Amino acid sequence: MGDVTDFPTEFARALPKAELHVHLEGSVDPATMLVLAERHGIEAPAANEAGIREWLRFDGFPSFLERYFWVCGLLKTADDFAHIAHAYLSHAHEQGAVHVELHVSSSYHIVEREADWSEVLAGVVAGCERAEADLGISSLLIPDLSPHLGADAAHQALDVVLAELHPRVVGIGMGGPADNWRTEDFGSAFRRAREAGLHTVSHAGEHGPAWEVAHALDEFGAERIQHGIRAMGDPDVVARLAEEGVACDVCPGSNLALAAVPSLDVHPLPAMLDAGITVTLGSDDPPLFATSLLAEYENAWNLCDLDEDGLRDLAINSLVESFASTDQIEAWLDA
Ligand code: ADE
Ligand code: ZN
Repeated sequence: MGDVTDFPTEFARALPKAELHVHLEGSVDPATMLVLAERHGIEAPAANEAGIREWLRFDGFPSFLERYFWVCGLLKTADDFAHIAHAYLSHAHEQGAVHVELHVSSSYHIVEREADWSEVLAGVVAGCERAEADLGISSLLIPDLSPHLGADAAHQALDVVLAELHPRVVGIGMGGPADNWRTEDFGSAFRRAREAGLHTVSHAGEHGPAWEVAHALDEFGAERIQHGIRAMGDPDVVARLAEEGVACDVCPGSNLALAAVPSLDVHPLPAMLDAGITVTLGSDDPPLFATSLLAEYENAWNLCDLDEDGLRDLAINSLVESFASTDQIEAWLDA
């Protein structure tokens, strides 16, 4: 990194931008966690927000996932989902987002909690509609399958998702620990999703090696990769991402919090841009990582010695790579 000048916060806020990598359940802030725990008679790990923030410190991906799934378990009713969707979209709107693609941990709700997906979906959609009506912010949904539950569970979740395809549901994703990708056939689930007209994305190359990224491209037909930072370990995978124009939705703050990188100074974001990979920025699970969409633009500014044009390019990438309609994307670009 060279000399770092002050991040132009208001310039960055004013850029029309999309956030393509944020988990709805990971967007719940500590105050809301306490309200939900109280509402549903669930014992909270701390009595106040500061205590929850303390509890949210983790020492790696497995301990993060324990906390993430505890938050998932706080979400019971359609109202809960409507509230958190609206709350996050309001927050994103304050940061200049015109569009958000919310990942929803569908395998957790459908397979692990055996929840009524119609109720989950109705709640999330109600929150999205209210945010669109109040604030004009656009939003689409990407139900995520969980690799750690295995391929049968992925098909089970997909059956339920495909049975009720709301127009806001535009893609299927994959998120969670991915140790068993080589032993289970998740590709057939992604094939079914594509045949049903859905886009496909996948977490890959976050903690695991570059082959995960190639696997997500080959087996899942992933159109975007969440994270993808470890792709930089294999020049062939880097070349594929660049040549095939597959964007990586990168979240430096998340990578630091989950120790996927030892420090921000050595984050591969500058190398990804230099290699010609299309990058969009996301906040992943913002309150859990004490980050935000704008904070990720600031991280990119510091890491890559960007100027204002560089920030604008990242914002444009996020609009262009979104699954919004071409007309809508053009309208945002022309605004
Ligand atoms: N689910 C929520 N956050 C995630 C992350 N950072 N990686 C994989 N799955 C996730
Ligand atoms: Zn993620």
